[in-house]
Amino acid sequence: MSEAIVARDLTKRFVTKKRVGLFRNYSEYVDAVRGVSLKVRYGEVVGLLGPNGAGKTTTIKILSTLLLPDSGSASVCGFDVVKEPQKVRRNIGIMLSVEKGFYGRLTGRENLLYFGALYGIGKNELEQRIKYLLDLVGLNELGGSDRLYEEFSLGMRARLALARALLKDPPVLLLDEPTLGLDPPSARKIRGLVRELATKEGKAILYTSHNMFEVELVCDKVILINKGVVVAEGTPEELKSRIPKVRTLELHLNSFPEDLLSEIRSYGLDVREPTQSSDGLYVLRILAKRPEEIVDDVLRLTASRGIDVVKLKIEEPTLEDVFVYFTTAEGVEKSGTQ
Ligand SMILES: Nc1ncnc2c1ncn2[C@@H]1O[C@H](COP(=O)(O)OP(=O)(O)O)[C@@H](O)[C@H]1O
Ligand SMILES: [Mg+2]
Repeated sequence: MSEAIVARDLTKRFVTKKRVGLFRNYSEYVDAVRGVSLKVRYGEVVGLLGPNGAGKTTTIKILSTLLLPDSGSASVCGFDVVKEPQKVRRNIGIMLSVEKGFYGRLTGRENLLYFGALYGIGKNELEQRIKYLLDLVGLNELGGSDRLYEEFSLGMRARLALARALLKDPPVLLLDEPTLGLDPPSARKIRGLVRELATKEGKAILYTSHNMFEVELVCDKVILINKGVVVAEGTPEELKSRIPKVRTLELHLNSFPEDLLSEIRSYGLDVREPTQSSDGLYVLRILAKRPEEIVDDVLRLTASRGIDVVKLKIEEPTLEDVFVYFTTAEGVEKSGTQ
């Protein structure tokens, strides 16, 4: 069995009571997760990518047994999250974006000793493991091992949270926006470690984020989630190849005759109004599925008009383009028919 995490059709509705006037209450429903299915294999980082309120944290909480789903099922390392929560917990390390539970008046090392003892790790093994982990997450070099937690920067807190998640050396990691709000070196450190833990140690990692750039850097596969629903999934490359016409041929021109735009359009090309760059050049963008096939024609045209092409590049679509595409009506319809 190479699948470490399997979730099928998970749903979760939150009910909140609102008070109207003095005596009347009414209930409001939020369908936070509406049929989420996903799989994470050992050795793989899967990114759950979506905007705030998409249902990422709720999904992570269900998989980590902190919340019960209303329907659907999920297992971690073959153990059912509802029926075998203890066994699931033994196999996971969790990092929630809002880290609670550390003791402000204890040092980094003391906090880990406390949690290690709580997890039932023997003293000698625990001390060795803590030494290794404080080094691994870079807290030793930052002086975090023997400094009080309340004096930690956000980046140091996140590093300690990752060290805690790794105390039991679990095969599965559930990381909820682990780099949110961190200083760039800490964010980079955590992303690097996440990659290594999957590649070198074969851990299965579910990694939530609302940052496209980061997901592209860290994850082998991406699941786009919006309003509690998975709207698309695949490797970043696969997802990008599924959106039409988002590659761009960008030309920086030294002049821009008025009728150039209409001439380019007369060849059936999807060209945008030019913008002006800070160095006074005209920046022209032509959207095409295969821009490399039109480069020659476009260059012939500009040459015949005596226009200098100072710079030329082909821009690949970003995950952000993918996200916009799959969360607009057009994209949702298309992904539904595939
Ligand atoms: N305990 C709760 N009670 C009521 N609503 C909640 C609760 N937790 C989350 N929600 C709502 O569920 C939706 C999904 O939340 P969440 O899973 O935290 O999204 P994300 O982590 O992607 O930002 C949001 O609309 C949020 O307001
Ligand atoms: Mg969240």
